[in-house]
Amino acid sequence: MSFRRAGGPSGTVCYYPEQWDESFWAEDLRRMKEAGLDGIRIAEFAWNRFEPEEGVFTFAFFDRFLEYVEAADMKVVFCTPTATPPAWMTHRYPEVLNADIRGDLFRHGARRHYNYNSPVYREFCSRIVEQLGKHYGQHPRVVGWQIDNELNCETGDFYSESDHAAFREFLKEKYGTLDRLNFAWGTDFWNQTYSDWDQVYGPRPTVNGTSNPHQKLDYIRFISASALSFCRMQSEILRKYKKPGDYITTNGIFGHMDNAKMVEESLDTYMYDSYPGFAFALDADPVNAEDLNDRKWSRNLTETRSVCPHFGIMEQQSGSIGWNDRMEAPAPKPGQMMLWAMQSIAHGADYVSFFRWRTSRIGTEIYWHGILDYDSRDNRRLEELRQIARRTERIRDIAGAEYQASFALLKSCDNQWDAERDVDSWHSRIQSFSENEIFCGAQLSHTPMDVVWIGSGRREPPDPERYPLLILPHAAIVAESDKSLLEEYVKRGGILCMGCRTGYKNEYGHCVTQPMPGLLRGLAGGTVEDFTSVRPEENVSVAWRGKRFRMPVFNDMLEAEDADVLAVFEGSYYDGKPAILEHSFGKGKVLWIGGVFTRELTRAVLEYAGVIHPFADWIDVPEDCEIAVRKKGERRYLFVLNYMPYPRRITLHIPAFDPEGNTVSGEQLLSPYEAKIYIL
Ligand code: GAL
Repeated sequence: MSFRRAGGPSGTVCYYPEQWDESFWAEDLRRMKEAGLDGIRIAEFAWNRFEPEEGVFTFAFFDRFLEYVEAADMKVVFCTPTATPPAWMTHRYPEVLNADIRGDLFRHGARRHYNYNSPVYREFCSRIVEQLGKHYGQHPRVVGWQIDNELNCETGDFYSESDHAAFREFLKEKYGTLDRLNFAWGTDFWNQTYSDWDQVYGPRPTVNGTSNPHQKLDYIRFISASALSFCRMQSEILRKYKKPGDYITTNGIFGHMDNAKMVEESLDTYMYDSYPGFAFALDADPVNAEDLNDRKWSRNLTETRSVCPHFGIMEQQSGSIGWNDRMEAPAPKPGQMMLWAMQSIAHGADYVSFFRWRTSRIGTEIYWHGILDYDSRDNRRLEELRQIARRTERIRDIAGAEYQASFALLKSCDNQWDAERDVDSWHSRIQSFSENEIFCGAQLSHTPMDVVWIGSGRREPPDPERYPLLILPHAAIVAESDKSLLEEYVKRGGILCMGCRTGYKNEYGHCVTQPMPGLLRGLAGGTVEDFTSVRPEENVSVAWRGKRFRMPVFNDMLEAEDADVLAVFEGSYYDGKPAILEHSFGKGKVLWIGGVFTRELTRAVLEYAGVIHPFADWIDVPEDCEIAVRKKGERRYLFVLNYMPYPRRITLHIPAFDPEGNTVSGEQLLSPYEAKIYIL
């Protein structure tokens, strides 16, 4: 489908001309076109085809391929090939390689074996990108550029010599003096004080595998900064050569990266690679509807939308998945390719490209199936692709329509990184529990959610009109700038809901000495008197809004200062202690819960804030179907997605059109895995 900002192809597929004999090309392109595609993504792993020897550049191979593309009237998203440096380079300049924490280099044979900070690699990369930009920037068939492939995929950790050296520079820039670094890293603990910059490294093997948490947090910030500057370097080069209107993107989304900042700095749009089939991985937990399975990919799509409201999908799953060394998940059932493509579009994708045209016959990915199998014959997946292309063509005006969320989950990079298991396992446990449950609670109650980022220089408070409720589950780290932003939001009428363990750390990750929630005490209208983790067999609960809710994992026993006590703990030695406080502040309120968020409690919070199921007047829909609405002008697109292997019934209370233009209303039946779209 068309991608508004990018003006790009209206449906693409990933293709690897370097892996197929020239005799395949014309027929492949013809069949793609016939299936309703008009573009392909190429070249992301093809460095050798452009620079077969150091400093020797040739474009003959891809020039020739582009002649076929021209003849087939197709378009191209061209990639920079920096995810797989060539063997001549890694052999001659091993410093370009990434290393494990012991410093052992990752050798040739897989991909993403490079590091972002080797000056030699940077030089090679800027040269190849420069060459490609110069040669293909004005090519009429090129409509967009993908930088690298999946930054931080395979690993988000880098321990080469260049990384340690660059980390040192990053810290010098950040702290200026060793005294300040020693303070920030709390090096008085266990005698870690540094007296010379040469003693400072990123994390290295330690006797018990643990590392200084403040150092680790800075190290992740550094990895993010390194990936972002690598991307920026390429983007700045491509901008000099590309045609106006051609877009620059990259695909993801992976950890240890401030993705929102990367989009702001370097990209015109962002692309997510969506493989919901991972939910059915053969070694995953037994399939169980409560877990939401492939519906959980809506959470990743929500995160993608949070960093780029009008994003695309660069790789949409189209076959069963696995590598030579692992059997991953079964083939999409009939209907699931369509369902998953519609899931992406429902969440804001304005462009969908499938991975890949034909299953590879060589290499690690011989089981990562594309649309065609090894024999290239027509099959049911190609037929489903044709149907997807026809359908997206009918709703192409949706490009640019806004996803309609009724509340937002508030996140910050600092807290996301602090909540990694090897930085802070306490934070990790509550954060991962609550984020999953908040998503499930929102999904199952048909309450569409956005993710909003604070921190890293974002100073504007979210608008309470747009998000009447913000849930900030467990912001351990709260900076002064977060405090003023949150206060401003509540003052203007928003409802801020916070969970346990809020505000007990500063930006270095040091625990603060004020009572929790530290800087947010005035906003919360109270403090934490005592706290404890909760074992699974303990049965602590609260009664609130006429229902009883479990309070598992972690409890903060709250103490009201000027807040009202809405509920108290029951079932432990802290029976009767406040568990939920409400504090009016300016025109808004703070709801403070001394625990984690279960899906049931999330539902109650959504009801309390009056944001639950905003489309209840339009539609009755069972819990196990997702609904999503995108709006453009007065037109609304209502998606109903049935993830179940059995049919589901829904009732439309208002007249609507289907994409074919028929009027529909009343009771409707969704087949197994069916995705319906209604236009209102
Ligand atoms: C993605 C990647 C593709 C392909 C696919 C299957 O992560 O971008 O190149 O490798 O996974 O492994």
